[in-house]
Amino acid sequence: MDLHAHASSRGYELDSAQQEAVARLEELGRRRRGVYLHGPVGRGKSFLADALFDVLPEPKKRVHFHAFFQELHRRISARLHQRGAVAEAVRELVGRAEVLAFDELHVHDVGDAMLMTRLLEALQDRRVMIIATSNYPPDGLLPDPLHHDRFLPGIALVKELMDTVELNGPNDYRHLHGAPRSRFETGAIVTAAPLPATPVTLDVNGRAITALGTEDERIWFDFGDLCEKPTSTQDYLVLADRFDDWVIVGVPRLRARDREARQRFANVVDVLVDKDVRLTLVSEHALGEIVGGEVRDLARTASRLELINTTG
Ligand SMILES: Nc1ncnc2c1ncn2[C@@H]1O[C@H](COP(=O)(O)OP(=O)(O)OP(=O)(O)O)[C@@H](O)[C@H]1O
Ligand SMILES: [Mg+2]
Repeated sequence: MDLHAHASSRGYELDSAQQEAVARLEELGRRRRGVYLHGPVGRGKSFLADALFDVLPEPKKRVHFHAFFQELHRRISARLHQRGAVAEAVRELVGRAEVLAFDELHVHDVGDAMLMTRLLEALQDRRVMIIATSNYPPDGLLPDPLHHDRFLPGIALVKELMDTVELNGPNDYRHLHGAPRSRFETGAIVTAAPLPATPVTLDVNGRAITALGTEDERIWFDFGDLCEKPTSTQDYLVLADRFDDWVIVGVPRLRARDREARQRFANVVDVLVDKDVRLTLVSEHALGEIVGGEVRDLARTASRLELINTTG
């Protein structure tokens, strides 16, 4: 296994923090020991985790937090009141995989904390090697001080199943690169845009969601309809499969809105990045104003949105 050669084959010059991380990942990969790679945005965590995943032998599986969790929720609720429901759902989802790559492990509410703990237990039982990336060190997961204690068993499991590797080099590479690499990156933040004439009500997972309009694969939303109504990540996943060009109108200063609205917006952005959906934000505020302030959970969102912040 030559992780260094594989990582370098991208043509990137690895910085010293990345080189150090590669050496640790290589060793952990050889020992089939789980990895929890954490650090600030844009340092190359997903890049290195992918590289490690690539050089490990089959059977293996790569999943993404939101889609995987929603699917897990769905399969568990289909078996409500059955014994071993979580283990069975995990068995179905993970299959024969002996390596599970879990990009962006983060926990923001008590429900996710409970499910994450059960998931980790099930993966421990199945002796699956986990490769996780996160913006949070294990002790920083479920940061909300009101609920943090509820995830202490999960944090203990994270530490038991994975070795913690911090990646905190000098460069946020997301800021450094030039030409767009994805459809998401061709989006923009603008102060005005032409809007469709007639609002539509969409049936999404049996719920009515109002859009400002649709046109082929393009959809326009008002921020309030999308983020200040009880919409869920599952809804965004379904909508992102149907529409690959989103416009969100009236995006406010997020710090002035409640926690739920902020979290929904962060989830929307996560889902759209993952699904490579083009995103245009229409706002009277510049990006720094939209995501500014002491709102720690918005760091990842801010970094993602830098990619479409072509206006400055
Ligand atoms: N040494 C490097 N040279 C050039 N580009 C790099 C380098 N390392 C990573 N990149 C690129 O920089 C971008 C950001 O890296 P990556 O997505 O892995 O960051 P991350 O740490 O996972 O960020 P986040 O916490 O936001 O998920 C990617 O497009 C990646 O391919
Ligand atoms: Mg990442």
